[in-house]
Amino acid sequence: DEAAEQATFDALIAAEQRIEPRDWMPEAYRKTLIRQISQHAHSEIIGMQPEGNWITRAPSLKRKAILMAKVQDEAGHGLYLYSAAQTLGITRDEMTEQLIAGKAKYSSIFNYPTPTWADMGAIGWLVDGAAICNQVPLCRASYGPYGRAMVRICKEESFHQRQGFEILLALMQGTPAQRQMAQDAVNRWYWPSLMMFGPPDDESPNSAQSMEWKIKRFSNDELRQRFVGMLVPQAAVLGVTLPDPELRWDEDAQRWHMSEIDWTEFHEVLRGRGPMNAERLRNRRNAHEDGAWVREAAAEYARRQAARAEG
Ligand code: 3HC
Repeated sequence: DEAAEQATFDALIAAEQRIEPRDWMPEAYRKTLIRQISQHAHSEIIGMQPEGNWITRAPSLKRKAILMAKVQDEAGHGLYLYSAAQTLGITRDEMTEQLIAGKAKYSSIFNYPTPTWADMGAIGWLVDGAAICNQVPLCRASYGPYGRAMVRICKEESFHQRQGFEILLALMQGTPAQRQMAQDAVNRWYWPSLMMFGPPDDESPNSAQSMEWKIKRFSNDELRQRFVGMLVPQAAVLGVTLPDPELRWDEDAQRWHMSEIDWTEFHEVLRGRGPMNAERLRNRRNAHEDGAWVREAAAEYARRQAARAEG
């Protein structure tokens, strides 16, 4: 009965065990996982666009090859995560329809433009850096398929972060114009990358329950602090300035003191009014429509194979 099932579920969570697709789970647990994993998958797929913008414009064959590999990785991350979400009872078509209809959230960070090559460095260093801080704890998420997908994704993210750092380092060792381009990109991506961790803890409706279910292991603000702590020494090595004049280590409070994040901008982007929201969705919709013939051909081929197998 329901009470016994709930008790078994609670014991698994308490014992740091994984919940697997066939296990009983509270409907609310299933619902929040579909919510988070589908949004995570959408983020990976939409995240291909800002970087894709520079594949044909990369400054060398080496940079082009690295960027293509990274964008392909993001596509793969999206597919692992859509597959993990499908184990919870939602279909790929439903998730795609939600995204294309503008009904689904995806990470705010991908609604910003990439006007220069230095943005490829800032995205790798800051966006993938933030993603690593957020995703490493998710490897221990209580839902099996999600945690296991994260292990594979985190391995590839570290390459993404390193190549971004290296792009910025090369620019910072270049001409004054290249140094300025790198600093401009850091200025444009720093604050939006802090918003990737979500709203402040006292304005995070999902955190308490997600932490109780051991989906979320650390709070939004905790991971944001960890991320900034990682950036400060790396910014010093790069010779770039983090665009927060207030930023300093508060020894008494044992935390990074920083300026207030612009949460109005955050909510505007979440409501679809960021600089690139409309374009990102239009491109995703067009890609889906342009790919319809491939899906139809594959489905027809599978039907004929099945018919032939039946003899
Ligand atoms: N962009 C868009 N929506 C955001 C957001 C952001 N940066 N931060 C928070 N939100 C949304 C939440 O989804 C939630 O809305 P919902 O209830 O409709 O889903 C609302 O704002 C309140 O936030 P909460 O803190 O209550 O929500 P969560 O507990 O879900 O925490 C989160 C938000 C930390 C982003 C969490 O969902 C999470 O860890 N998600 C998985 C990881 C992820 O999506 N990372 C960003 C993708 S970047 C990436 O992976 C690509 C990389 O490879 C480059």
